[in-house]
Amino acid sequence: MANIVWHHTAVTKEDRRAKNGHHSAVLWFTGLSGSGKSTLANAVSKKLFELGVQNYVLDGDNIRHGLNKDLGFSAEDRTENIRRIGEVAKLFVDSGQFVLTAFISPFARDRQLVRQLLEQDEFIEIYVKCPLEECEKRDPKGLYKKARNGEIREFTGIDSPYEEPTSPELTIETHRYSLEECIDQVITYLRERQLIK
Ligand code: ADX
Repeated sequence: MANIVWHHTAVTKEDRRAKNGHHSAVLWFTGLSGSGKSTLANAVSKKLFELGVQNYVLDGDNIRHGLNKDLGFSAEDRTENIRRIGEVAKLFVDSGQFVLTAFISPFARDRQLVRQLLEQDEFIEIYVKCPLEECEKRDPKGLYKKARNGEIREFTGIDSPYEEPTSPELTIETHRYSLEECIDQVITYLRERQLIK
């Protein structure tokens, strides 16, 4: 950027991590609408909170009411949505916290770009895997029904693509396991990688 100089901060990411007693990273939940991203991200957030791990949830539906309320669901807008979230997530990592993001993020390239914004041990892609038929059966917001009726266009899984992650750090199958079991799978992974105690 012309005429803009990067300022170094007085307190570093490492200082903040040391004080918190844990690492900081993005838990990037991706999956179809209705797959359980928000439910799982919020449940893991609560568990981390109880364990004394600083964390915050960024949720698609909420962010689209504020920061990204100018964006729709064209491929271009979804890319910009994810780009902004990636930058915000990076700030949270810098602040020494875990940030849990719950966005469909249907395009592999957009997720890859976020991964590249961060260090290797700072981006954990979690594929919240659930068959389309099951998401459609759940249809918590009635949106699949509207998409099938043609009331909503470019709906992910119906007339807009979802590119499955090919090598996510974790895959959680929400139609096969209970919420408790899914939470455990995430927490166990974080412990095994020694990102939390
Ligand atoms: S993303 O594709 O850009 O990552 P995001 O996660 O922010 O999507 O928003 C998805 C949420 O917006 C869905 O859970 C659903 O509630 C709502 N939504 C409204 N229209 C659409 C659409 N055309 N495709 C997908 N989700 C939609």
